[in-house]
Amino acid sequence: MKIAIINGPNLNLLGVREPGIYGSQAFEGFFKTLEEKYAGVAQLTYFQSNHEGALIDEMQRVGFEFDGIVLNAGAYTHTSIALADCISAISTPVVEVHISNVHSREAFRHHSTVSPVCKGVIAGFGLDSYRLAIEAIINK
Ligand code: DQA
Repeated sequence: MKIAIINGPNLNLLGVREPGIYGSQAFEGFFKTLEEKYAGVAQLTYFQSNHEGALIDEMQRVGFEFDGIVLNAGAYTHTSIALADCISAISTPVVEVHISNVHSREAFRHHSTVSPVCKGVIAGFGLDSYRLAIEAIINK
């Protein structure tokens, strides 16, 4: 089984960025623990970009072959029609994740352009949101 984790803008700063909201762990270290946990079950890949088009390129690359995509689109979640169109265009199911509970934050974070075209949404469990999304893909 192949699962791609794709992180959008500013998520390269995890561990440094607003630790009270996003925690103090960098994603690279967390990704290693996920790889170890799912060794033999799923082959995980990790891609991060601050650029909308680069995220779309990666989604298209894996989106007809992989079994699932775990997508944290960062702030593009709230603005990107292009990402939503991409999710509609590919055949791999996408699980939308957020580290924070976006619904307990500012009103502009309550709307997601990608939710309607995702398989499901997981938000508010810190980095564990990613593990829960992987579980959802594996157990589907
Ligand atoms: C986020 C929530 C978004 O509103 C924000 O723009 C992010 C991170 C989260 O993981 O909680 O960059 O997607």
